Amino acid sequence: MIRPVRTAVFPVGGLGTRFLPATKAMPKEMLPVVDKPLIQYAVEEAQAAGIEEFIFVTGRGKHAIEDHFDRSYELEDVLRERDKTDMLEAINSWMPKAGAVSYTRQMEPQGLGHAVRCAKALVGDEPFAVLLADDLILSPRGCLVEMVEAYNKVGGNMIAAMDVPQEHTRRYGIVKPGKDEDKLVEVKGLVEKPNPADAPSRTAVIGRYILQPSVFDHIDAVERGAGGEIQLTDALARMIGEVPFHGLRFSGTRYDCGDKVGFLHANIAFALHRQDMRKDAAAIIREISKTL
Ligand code: G1P
Repeated sequence: MIRPVRTAVFPVGGLGTRFLPATKAMPKEMLPVVDKPLIQYAVEEAQAAGIEEFIFVTGRGKHAIEDHFDRSYELEDVLRERDKTDMLEAINSWMPKAGAVSYTRQMEPQGLGHAVRCAKALVGDEPFAVLLADDLILSPRGCLVEMVEAYNKVGGNMIAAMDVPQEHTRRYGIVKPGKDEDKLVEVKGLVEKPNPADAPSRTAVIGRYILQPSVFDHIDAVERGAGGEIQLTDALARMIGEVPFHGLRFSGTRYDCGDKVGFLHANIAFALHRQDMRKDAAAIIREISKTL
């Protein structure tokens, strides 16, 4: 029986060193693309996919995330007094229900596998999704929606998959592919951040996962891997053969918002995608291009 996915884990404990100085006192997940923080895009994507429980694995200095997913009565009062109904809508319409959000702290930055392991007690014995807010995906229906639909047919573990240039394999978990048809690629092997020469393919893991709860035992069993960290990829590699395991080649474009250029790219793409901004954004880009 394929059990439904109702819970999502958001690992948000990372230090964001690639984005200093912006992230010195502000969580990287709160960096806005146009007018919305990265973490809100991830939460909305999860909501669109039917997720009901939201678990944040946080760390020190991440209070702004908790405040963002809480009511702000002073602000609401002021907006109400000023009749700013659209703004009231903008701060509340996407809020998860009271009690639907939980927080736990990672305490030590020991890697993505460790972060996910910290959510074990909150997740319980159910399949769950993991979303990395750094990986922002502009797609018509939402990457996790597509994954949940595919998961409901095949079950097991599922990752978002995308082909990357050969020279970038050392930035990603890389898939050894099996049967590869339509949008689903069978995962026959996984290796974290291989050198291009050793990579089993160019198919990378992007930061969306649907996982069976037995992953927690596998995380406990793995040694420190790439970068001296407890890698989720290494735990997942142990599950191949134990559960069905697929990559979903999702629709749309993924932006690496952990990277300054990727973040800039996302801001431009999202502004151009917005009806209310497209014209102005295009005019600015044309204007600047003339000076290059
Ligand atoms: C993490 C995962 C990696 C995955 C990547 C996607 O790496 O460990 O397997 O390909 O996210 O963004 P990180 O970017 O945290 O180094």
